[in-house]
Amino acid sequence: MAESESTPAATAPQASASSPAGSPPPTTAPAAAASTPASPSAAEQPAADAPIAVDSNPIYHPQPLEDDDDNDSSLGDENALSTASISSSILQYRKLHGRTYHNFGGADKVEYWAPNDDAQNDQLDINHHLLNLALDNKLFFAPLSKPTRVLDVGTGTGMWAIDFADEFPDCEVTGIDLSPIQPTWVPPNCKFELDDASQPWTFPDNHFDYIHFRYMIGCFKDWPAVYREAYRCLKPGGWIEHLDCTADVLSDDGSLPKDTVFVEWKKVFKEAGEKMGQTFEVVDNDNYVGWLKEAGFKDVKNTIIKTPVGSWPADPKWKEVGQFNQYMLDGGIEGLGLYIITNVLGWKYEEMQVFIAKVRAGLKNKNWHSYCVWGAAWGQKPYDE
Ligand SMILES: C[S@@+](CC[C@H](N)C(=O)[O-])C[C@H]1O[C@@H](n2cnc3c(N)ncnc32)[C@H](O)[C@@H]1O
Repeated sequence: MAESESTPAATAPQASASSPAGSPPPTTAPAAAASTPASPSAAEQPAADAPIAVDSNPIYHPQPLEDDDDNDSSLGDENALSTASISSSILQYRKLHGRTYHNFGGADKVEYWAPNDDAQNDQLDINHHLLNLALDNKLFFAPLSKPTRVLDVGTGTGMWAIDFADEFPDCEVTGIDLSPIQPTWVPPNCKFELDDASQPWTFPDNHFDYIHFRYMIGCFKDWPAVYREAYRCLKPGGWIEHLDCTADVLSDDGSLPKDTVFVEWKKVFKEAGEKMGQTFEVVDNDNYVGWLKEAGFKDVKNTIIKTPVGSWPADPKWKEVGQFNQYMLDGGIEGLGLYIITNVLGWKYEEMQVFIAKVRAGLKNKNWHSYCVWGAAWGQKPYDE
C-alpha cells in the first residue's frame, strides 16, 4: 500500500491589516482534467502523479422530532430501500423548531443532522459557489481524464453534479441523496436518485470511473464500510475523492483569542458526533486518509484549503471567498447547530439560540482573521485488484 502524500496546507490568506492588497494568491489550481492526455476512460489511465499545488450503534434519538401530519401516506410501500423505489416516508419530512429534516426509511434507520429546507439548501448553493471561487472552479483534485460514469454521493442540491456534467458532456453523472432537493432542469447527462449510501449500494461492481463525496461530515457510522462500497463500484484504476470540512474556526496570525466561542462550537460537534456514532472528525487528523487506505485505495493524497471568514484578506479572491463564507455561515449557522445541539446534546432551544447568536457575532468580528478548514483526499482503486 502506498503511503499517503500530504500536499502543503494552503497558505493562510493575508490579512489586509498586515499585508498589502494584491499579494500573490495563496492557492494555485489543482491538476485539471484538461492537462491530462485524452483516453477512453479515467479507469484506463495509469496512476497519474500530477503535482497538486494548493497553498494555501444505535442511533441516538433522545427526543422525538415532531411528525409532519400534512403528508400523504398513500404514496407507497414504506419498507423498500433502493434507488428504484421512493417510499412515502421520504416525503414525510420531520420537523424541528420550524425546520424540516429528511425522513428516509423511518426515523430509526438513518440520521442526517442538517435541515433539508430552502433556507439550508440556499446555504449549500452559496457554499458550492465559494468553494468554486476558492478552488478556481476546479471540481476535483484526482487526475481524471474523460470519465464516462461518475457518482456524487450525498449530492444535496446537486450543484457539483450539474457543474461536473456540464464540464464532461459525454459523462453520465448520477447524484444520490436522502432528500429529493435537486432541481428538475439539469443537463441531459445528469440524473438524481434517492438512496441511502449507508446501506449496501445497489450499483454493480466495477461501474464508475470516479466517485465523489463532499461535505458529508457526521453522516456515516462506518466510513471504511462506505469507502469499501465505493471501491467495489469503481472500475479498476478509477478514483475516489472526498472534500470535507472540520468544525474548526481558526486563525494563523494570533488575532483570534484562545477562548472564543469557536472552542465550544468545535466541542459541540465532537460530542454530538460521539453520541450519534457518526463522527464529524473526518478531515481531522487525516482520518479519512486512513479510512481510504483501509478500504484498499492506493496513491492516496490529500491537501488542506483554508476558507477565510469575512473580508479581512488582502487578496481580492480570498476577500470574496471570505465575504461569501461569512454570508453563508450567517444564514446557515442555525441549521448547522439546531439538531445536534437540541436533539442530540439535549440543550434547551433557548440555550441553543443564545449560543448560536454568540457564534454568529464571532463570525462577524472584524478583528479576528479567522478561517474554516476544508480538506480533500483522493485515491485510486488498483488495476490489479
Ligand atoms: C451538507 S450536505 C452536502 C451536499 C453536497 N454534497 C454539497 O457539497 O453541497 C450533505 C448531504 O448528504 C446527504 N446525506 C446524508 N446522509 C446520507 C446518506 N446516508 N445517504 C445519502 N445521502 C446522505 C444529505 O441529505 C445532504 O444533502
